[in-house]
Amino acid sequence: MNDFVKIFDTTLRDGEQSPGFGMKPTDKIRFAKQLERLGVNVIEAGFANASDGDFQAVRHIAETIKGSVICSLARCHVEDIKRAAEALKPAGKNARIHVFISTSPIHMHAKLNMTEQEVIDRAVMGVRLAKSFVDDVEFSAEDALRSDPQFLVRIFEAVIEAGATTINVPDTVGYTEPDEMYSFIKYLKDNITNIDKAIISVHCHNDLGMATANSMAAIKAGARQVEGCINGIGERAGNAAIEEVVMSLKTRADRYHNIETNIVTEELGITSRLLQEITSKIVQPNKAIIGANAFSHESGIHQDGMIKSRQTYEIMTPESVGMGSTQLVLGKHSGRNAVAQRIFALTHFAIDSKSKDMEEIMNAFKSIADKTPNGCVTDDAVCEIASPFVEKGKKLVA
Ligand code: KIV
Ligand code: ZN
Repeated sequence: MNDFVKIFDTTLRDGEQSPGFGMKPTDKIRFAKQLERLGVNVIEAGFANASDGDFQAVRHIAETIKGSVICSLARCHVEDIKRAAEALKPAGKNARIHVFISTSPIHMHAKLNMTEQEVIDRAVMGVRLAKSFVDDVEFSAEDALRSDPQFLVRIFEAVIEAGATTINVPDTVGYTEPDEMYSFIKYLKDNITNIDKAIISVHCHNDLGMATANSMAAIKAGARQVEGCINGIGERAGNAAIEEVVMSLKTRADRYHNIETNIVTEELGITSRLLQEITSKIVQPNKAIIGANAFSHESGIHQDGMIKSRQTYEIMTPESVGMGSTQLVLGKHSGRNAVAQRIFALTHFAIDSKSKDMEEIMNAFKSIADKTPNGCVTDDAVCEIASPFVEKGKKLVA
């Protein structure tokens, strides 16, 4: 088998932390079932000790989903870990407990008021306790990218020794640049002496718009689990968008030694639309992969190229990500070929795109486009403009 990257979806945990993105319990189940169809390896279903609602959501998802590992977040606190273990019981061997503690100087001093050694001891306690309930334990060093790399090596070695099988490196505040991320992950991989016993994971926030780029840099340096959310939702500016990471790996397989994921990419569109429906939050039209305009072409030059060969302006097909089919949107930048092609699609009459009639159609078309507030010319308007010329042409042909 080729090299493989696990996809860890945290839409139901970090995603739900976005203000206004709360989800109803029934919707969480619907969404978890769709994540299973999408083929994500791990579903972080919630933070079981955060509230009774979160506990019930994790438990219900653990009872229902059998095709993905189900995970609950927990601080390195005894009560959090016990509650996570309780909620995850129905998942059996498919349960993962994800424990975390901060490791950056600012978090350790200002938030935890703990020394480095105290943080290591607490992390080891958390991992050991989690391990007493489940085999699959993930440890996250919160704010890892603003932590001392040598301290991180020490704490990761200690938690792997205690039984962690995934060590997660979160860019909690989205502060990192891709070349920095690459060097950081490479440093950890080269210096953690027992790294052969764990998978390196990355968890990138998007405060500077770099979450996907940083995740990709981490994969290049050796990370083999990527955490993210559908549509890039998440705390503040969001998390890495899973659809972007997966399609970057697939579209630029040449840059990633054909590393594979388990994702059924044709399910990305429907997963994104379901999340938009249950959160009542529509993604911006220009959102990569799943935005309404991601496969729309308006300019005449682009439309002409697309008519000749889709590969001129399409690096992946909309069909491959479940986003319907390519849209040639007619507007003031559209050219004769695209308008003539739309007239044929609407009327089944092949008008000569170089004819005098076509010139008149284009004049009427451009004047409507200029007057339309959003610049788009509808199919009805195209039919109306073309109708007299189509009728005349049909009579001549007959
Ligand atoms: O951003 C973060 O650091 C987190 C951790 C809990 C993994 O969400
Ligand atoms: Zn996060």
